[in-house]
Amino acid sequence: MQFHATGAPAGRQRTACAVVGIHERGQLTASARELDRHAGGAISRVLRRGDFSGKAGEVMPVLGVAGPAERLLLIGLGPDGKYSRKTWRSGVTAAVQWLARSGARDAVLYLGREPVPGLDPYYAARLTVESVAGALYRIPDLKTGRKPPRPRLARVGVAVPTEALAEARRGIRDGEGIAAGSALMRDLANLPANVCTPSHLATAARRLAREHRSIRARVLDRAAIRRLGMGSFLSVTRGSEEPPRLIVLEYRGTRRRTAPVVLVGKGVTFDTGGISLKQSGGMDEMKFDMSGAASVFGTIKALATIGAAEHVVGIVPACENMPSGRATKPGDIVTSMAGKTIEVLNTDAEGRLILCDALTYARRFKPRAVVDIATLTGACVIALGAHYCGLFSPDDALAAGLTAAGERADDRAWRMPVAEEYADLLKSNFADLANVAGRDGGAITAACFLWKFTDGLRWAHLDIAGTAYLSGKQKGSTGRPVPLLVDWLLRGE
Ligand code: BES
Ligand code: MN
Ligand code: ZN
Repeated sequence: MQFHATGAPAGRQRTACAVVGIHERGQLTASARELDRHAGGAISRVLRRGDFSGKAGEVMPVLGVAGPAERLLLIGLGPDGKYSRKTWRSGVTAAVQWLARSGARDAVLYLGREPVPGLDPYYAARLTVESVAGALYRIPDLKTGRKPPRPRLARVGVAVPTEALAEARRGIRDGEGIAAGSALMRDLANLPANVCTPSHLATAARRLAREHRSIRARVLDRAAIRRLGMGSFLSVTRGSEEPPRLIVLEYRGTRRRTAPVVLVGKGVTFDTGGISLKQSGGMDEMKFDMSGAASVFGTIKALATIGAAEHVVGIVPACENMPSGRATKPGDIVTSMAGKTIEVLNTDAEGRLILCDALTYARRFKPRAVVDIATLTGACVIALGAHYCGLFSPDDALAAGLTAAGERADDRAWRMPVAEEYADLLKSNFADLANVAGRDGGAITAACFLWKFTDGLRWAHLDIAGTAYLSGKQKGSTGRPVPLLVDWLLRGE
């Protein structure tokens, strides 16, 4: 898909389809009035006859009209007074869904009054690109038989006031990078676990490095992981026939000589729970337990596509969590790379066991900040549901920066506490700490476990268990939190 910004007045912009935002019981916008005039009053006629009310999400094509646009697509944006990013974004998505099934090869979007509340031209253009690309995303096809026809739509224009063109072009460039990164995350996470193994992730990392000169990849095998002393990571992989990998990706922008930001992504390619076996209902979704890893791949891909200045290192511990005669048992005690001993009371709390060693490994890059991203706890899904991810950090400035990035990027995070009272619940009679506390505050005690390995680091943790993928009819990866991470990294804070 090609995107471009256009400042041409609606009356002079030739296109296969002009997408026009209409407010409920509101006045026509300037571009809508102009298109209406060129189309001989086709828009006002539809409204006058009561065929279109402008309710949020309503879509109506007006075909065979005169003027520079071969088609008009009316999009309801709800009442003008309630116009928000949300109605605007769902308008874009509804438009793209119609366009993808139409014969139009190109379209120009004229959405609502400008600027959208709380959206400058940069974010308006960027989020348009993200929404369009997101709505056109298709899951890697493993179905046989007849394929649905490919959409004809190949070119999308975003109409902006001429004085905002430069900002909008920047927004389109960054939006294309984020869209490419989110799509990579979604592709990897949507793959079944028999395809997307730790070795497959390693191959994907090497491919990324081949595709972008600014990316380097290094892959460590079991022997190298053992030499590093990652006893905690290795305890998770014991029950699996599939060998583990420690993947290191480095994005080197123009600031490559400055201290990097390290992103650590949980890469459990399938989580059965191990000996503390999960119940079977819905267990297929544990193929998404490598979403943190996939988000690190996606973020680095986005930065390379954009050509960002940043220096970023991605660390992905990748393995399966399986039960077997060799698997780690509840009560087993393992030694982490940091030297701390851990009593594994529950083999299903495996994410923290691989992440603590990856966090220790992160120290060798002398990072200016470390952010780990993990589908870490069901408790976080109970706390925050599917809309906000959990954000944990003892560092107020870092937490504020990530929260603000999530707001701007429309990919939100909600801060939760990290505190000694919760960390105390991880005490063990037999080892330095246990890998689980009780049921209460499960997302927080998990974060506090990681905290114990981050002394002296500027660290934050994102629990994406509720936001990284959808269940039910819409089952699939969301590509989150790539937009949040890229937004934060582009600011260089
Ligand atoms: N991968 C799961 C967390 C998860 C649960 C992600 C549901 C997405 C949806 C994680 O490894 C896990 O099993 N956590 C346990 C921790 C518990 C044993 C302390 C959980 O949340 O039940
Ligand atoms: Mn688990
Ligand atoms: Zn897990």
